[in-house]
Amino acid sequence: MRLLLCGDVVGRNGRDVVVEHVPRLRRELALDLVVVNGENAAHGFGITDKICAELYGCGVDVITTGNHVWDRREIIAYIDGDPRLLRPINFPPGTPGRGFGIFRLADGRAVLVVNAMARLFMDAIDDPFAALDRLLTEHPLGAVAAAIVDFHGEATSEKTSMGHFCDGRASMVVGTHSHVPTADYRILEKGTAYMTDVGMCGNYDSVIGMRKENSVQRFVRKMPGDRLEVADGPATLCAVVVETDDASGLARAIAPVRIGGKLAPHWPDFARLMPAAT
Ligand SMILES: [Fe+2]
Ligand SMILES: [Fe+2]
Repeated sequence: MRLLLCGDVVGRNGRDVVVEHVPRLRRELALDLVVVNGENAAHGFGITDKICAELYGCGVDVITTGNHVWDRREIIAYIDGDPRLLRPINFPPGTPGRGFGIFRLADGRAVLVVNAMARLFMDAIDDPFAALDRLLTEHPLGAVAAAIVDFHGEATSEKTSMGHFCDGRASMVVGTHSHVPTADYRILEKGTAYMTDVGMCGNYDSVIGMRKENSVQRFVRKMPGDRLEVADGPATLCAVVVETDDASGLARAIAPVRIGGKLAPHWPDFARLMPAAT
């Protein structure tokens, strides 16, 4: 199975690059499931029902989020009615929406997708490790053909720990939230594909997708400064593609995808992908 996860979509130009390239990625990489983190899709803050429809329309199957999930309040009333839109699983009991879903492909294979949020330098929420442990015990590989974890967090140590914690129990654990792609994509010892952060779908001539002038001034002066606005200009699509083995549900290969904008392009070549550890 081939699975694609696109990093945080930031604003209109982030959405545009996803809508432009996901159909081709689906075709040329023979993707079975596409997950996109949409927490910054609405002008950098939150997501709306219209934006969900726009993403589904281009071939996105599941939308994950993170700390910005509720920035557009109208999504609170919408989320319970859309099982494909996830919020972090370790939000307190009673929070609207779902933290995971089991999605059936046309051929009947089931894929577990879960969204969890880290705690270091983030809001105080329930333990993401305990939440993942419970969920992966309830829906182990074998019962599902593949399991995708979007772990939304700031600290590389916490995200790497989650990778090892889920090693052998998930097909892939990929970090989001920092908006900066890391070079540590690899297959862990027991077969889980891992990348600390997949990066964003947004304009890199910016500070994590927002206009650089406003963002820089926040650090230069001890003042809140102007409102943060999404940086205009061409976006880079940052994603990661994982190929899994259907029998075990574990990863056979992982590679980054980078298209457009300011970052060096990278197109995965499956013939030359990093082989799974033997
Ligand atoms: Fe984000
Ligand atoms: Fe975030």
